[in-house]
Amino acid sequence: MKIVVTRALPPATLTPLAEVGEVWVSPHDRPLRPEELREAVQGADAVVSMLNDRVDDDVLSAAGDQLKVVANTAVGYDNLDVAAIALHGAVATNTPGVLVDATADLTMALMLDITRRVSEGDRLVRSGQSWSWDIGFMLGTGLQGKQLGIVGMGHIGRAVATRATAFGTDVVYHARRDHDGDLGRRVDLDELLATSDVVSLHCPLTADTRHLVDAPALQRMKPGAYLVNTARGPIVDESALVDALTEGAIAGAALDVYEHEPDVHPGLRSLSNVVLAPHLGSATVETRTRMAELAVTNVVHVLTGGGPITPIAVPSR
Ligand code: DGY
Repeated sequence: MKIVVTRALPPATLTPLAEVGEVWVSPHDRPLRPEELREAVQGADAVVSMLNDRVDDDVLSAAGDQLKVVANTAVGYDNLDVAAIALHGAVATNTPGVLVDATADLTMALMLDITRRVSEGDRLVRSGQSWSWDIGFMLGTGLQGKQLGIVGMGHIGRAVATRATAFGTDVVYHARRDHDGDLGRRVDLDELLATSDVVSLHCPLTADTRHLVDAPALQRMKPGAYLVNTARGPIVDESALVDALTEGAIAGAALDVYEHEPDVHPGLRSLSNVVLAPHLGSATVETRTRMAELAVTNVVHVLTGGGPITPIAVPSR
């Protein structure tokens, strides 16, 4: 069996793969280019993919009919053409569950950072400019008694709701279905945008959510509100966000993900009321190790004849 791993994983997590097949791990310290990916997967029985590998029909055709599984090392799978993977006779898997706490923690870190101006203050101190404490110096906004609007109430959205509640923040959410009432009140998107002091995105990237936060949505947000995105960049129209921030339509944004990742809109980089993180949501040693282990376990299960642990449901066309 040929197993292709498109980017290095913690070496110990690869051991189970070596017991079921011949493992090829990309030697590059960067994502594979599309042509490199197509070449690498030729003859593969299994591919362990990263969130920045686009696994589409071309890649699947290049792989060949023997391909049995594409195991994405991420919970998000907008980079996979899941329907095409099924049509090619393979199964797609992802890594749900294991990164919930890490991503919720990072969301709170960004929320606190932008509302309390931590990174902005860090930049000021490092700049060497003179500063001194005074009663009105670098004031931020407290979260207590404010409203957090969560868009997408899956496991991560709920974990953020739990944390925000502990900070004394009221929670509303927008989701397709009702969740445990203790975690907040379900509202429609317009109400969430118009009434929330902080809006945090936790929905998957789909055709329905691409540019969900566009210019009109940003204009509907409460003046003085903040936007936090730890989900996927293209959910936000980045140019419209730059305009809204520049005009002062909203107070600030904290982003972990980007519309054209890893590129970042230059307008965002020049604004002081923006916190920019390099897709760190799941970036703890513990979580990344568990993600790698789960992706590897899915491959081993499929190649040894069992079902995958965390299959991705095939969308109806
Ligand atoms: C995921 O798993 O989808 C996350 O974005 C990784 O950090």
